[in-house]
Amino acid sequence: MPANENQKEKWYASWFDTPYYHILYKDRDYTEAQHFMDNLTQYLNLPDDAKILDLACGKGRHSIYLNSLGYNVTGADLSENSIAIASKFANEKLHFKVHDMRETCEEKYDAIFNLFTSFGYFESDDDNLTTLKAIHNSLNETGFACIDFMNVDYVIENLVPEEIKTVDGIDFHIKRYVKDNHIFKEIDFEADGEKHHYTEKVQALRLEDFEKMMEDAGIYLLDVFGNYKLQKFFKSQSERLIMIFK
Ligand SMILES: C[S@@+](CC[C@H](N)C(=O)[O-])C[C@H]1O[C@@H](n2cnc3c(N)ncnc32)[C@H](O)[C@@H]1O
Repeated sequence: MPANENQKEKWYASWFDTPYYHILYKDRDYTEAQHFMDNLTQYLNLPDDAKILDLACGKGRHSIYLNSLGYNVTGADLSENSIAIASKFANEKLHFKVHDMRETCEEKYDAIFNLFTSFGYFESDDDNLTTLKAIHNSLNETGFACIDFMNVDYVIENLVPEEIKTVDGIDFHIKRYVKDNHIFKEIDFEADGEKHHYTEKVQALRLEDFEKMMEDAGIYLLDVFGNYKLQKFFKSQSERLIMIFK
């Protein structure tokens, strides 16, 4: 589905495509992300030349690391600006493309990763189901997929309602709250002589919601982990909800 005008109005299509998004989140933990990729690829026992799709790859931090481990990696994201930045790192075994996760890929993959809460953005549940089916249909016969989502109960329990984060001289005023089964983050700041306002809005999807969707999509959920060390998932304590399926 190409990023048409209507889609450009969606919060996830506009906010993730701005330079300010990358400024606010520039201090993401790369080491932790790399350990997660080490653990996940070992757990999946991927062949050395495995073809991996990093779906909703952003600027490609996981893709670039996976490629450094020797894998054949494609990073795909809706944000043209993120893909333009990531593409600077492309090589013969590392490719990036603008792609909507609701679309089934022409190629088949040994593994498809959807990392760091890159799910639950759509208005309609049909789009969630379409995305799961697209992932499923883009796997080869022996392939595995992983969705790394927030653990909603942990996030709500630990929600910081208000904070100001100063990054690169910009004061980001952030408000967080839960409403209508979504977790909202309102972000206000002044930059480049203008006032900006963005809203992140992610569906509060719990394990049971994924289980239901996966059943509807004909997907088999193999394993669930609660953090990047791939330790057991506990509903009230785990930071992450990491699901492995095929
Ligand atoms: C929270 S970021 C995570 C990025 C990356 N996985 C990381 O860990 O740095 C979510 C990403 O999802 C992408 N995204 C949002 N909607 C998408 C869609 N429909 N198809 C593909 N990517 C999408 C955004 O552009 C953004 O890069």
